[in-house]
Amino acid sequence: MALRILSGVQSSGRLHLGNYYGAIREFVRLQHEGEALYFIANYHALTSVRDGALARQLTLETAVAYLALGLDPSRATLFRQSDIPEIGELYWILGTLVPMANLERATSYRDKIENKGIASPEFGLFAYPVLMAADILLYDSDVVPVGRDQRQHIEFARDWATKFNVQYVPGYDPQDPAKTPGLFKLPLARTRDETAVVPGRDGQKMSKSYGNTIDLFAPDKEVEKQIKSVKTDSTPPDQPKPVEDQPLYQLLKVVLPPGAFADADQAWRTGGDPKTNGYGYFKGLLLEGYRQEFGAARRRYDELIADRAEVERILAAGAEKARGFAAPVIQRVRAAVGL
Ligand code: ADP
Ligand code: TRP
Repeated sequence: MALRILSGVQSSGRLHLGNYYGAIREFVRLQHEGEALYFIANYHALTSVRDGALARQLTLETAVAYLALGLDPSRATLFRQSDIPEIGELYWILGTLVPMANLERATSYRDKIENKGIASPEFGLFAYPVLMAADILLYDSDVVPVGRDQRQHIEFARDWATKFNVQYVPGYDPQDPAKTPGLFKLPLARTRDETAVVPGRDGQKMSKSYGNTIDLFAPDKEVEKQIKSVKTDSTPPDQPKPVEDQPLYQLLKVVLPPGAFADADQAWRTGGDPKTNGYGYFKGLLLEGYRQEFGAARRRYDELIADRAEVERILAAGAEKARGFAAPVIQRVRAAVGL
């Protein structure tokens, strides 16, 4: 059977370079390697977007972004999380076996409380990994491509699937899971090391919640402004530039094609002509590289965003297909737990 690949991106804001290089680029590659399912995590987004019209708009924009960046609906199944009613059912059933202690130590949750100043978190944020595990297990997923920050969530899904299998499948052996098939398949995370974390303009991880992004589909003027504001140090234009902890250097490495990066790297390390090798010069290279890399996708985005009916058609077909994958799994689960 074809490898089943599944992933999602929350529709909680504009997509940025981190989302592309950390996740979406890999989704697009993987659609050629198996049965790929990609969805817009619009239930998850409700933990941060609290305006219905905005939530709806961001869901559409996220779908269009996937398509513009190369997701091919004739190869991969693209759907909206909220079009799959089975997800809510599995979420609850899984939750009956999820240890509270796991959720309390979930890094995504702790990060929001400890670093992002959320003083009294809601249940939805706490329970977020359970919904995510339901997303993964509902479709018998084998591989889940995600950024590094999401790995723990996939580990949780594996642990809870194992717990479920042990509880409900007679003879299931967690040491030898191939012997008796479980109720749930055990998914594996896939991250790529070279672009595991894309830095933001300030050098922290690029994230919409840090306000340090370079966006994929913002107007050109805005992107230019974002690139100009990448943090640099005070090394004079003609001096060799340090390569450690320099978001501009790391961004050039991620965005430029290898040949162009090799030239930029050379100039960066040697200093040289002050008219061309100041940080402004490298920001120009980054902007140029960005336009090369995303120009075509940005044009497709503008076309598609104007054709809502076509996007809806793709999402409806995707949801139907995804529900087809979900049906046997939810049936097994219902039977096993006694519903
Ligand atoms: P954000 O941090 O902006 O809220 P999300 O949490 O919605 O982004 O991330 C969506 C996907 O993109 C996830 O798979 C995540 O791991 C990946 N991702 C987000 N930011 C980065 C980054 N800076 N570097 C690498 N991958 C990232
Ligand atoms: N939590 C993921 C993120 O930030 C989105 C997501 C939701 C997801 N459900 C998923 C990713 C299932 C992979 C598999 O971005």
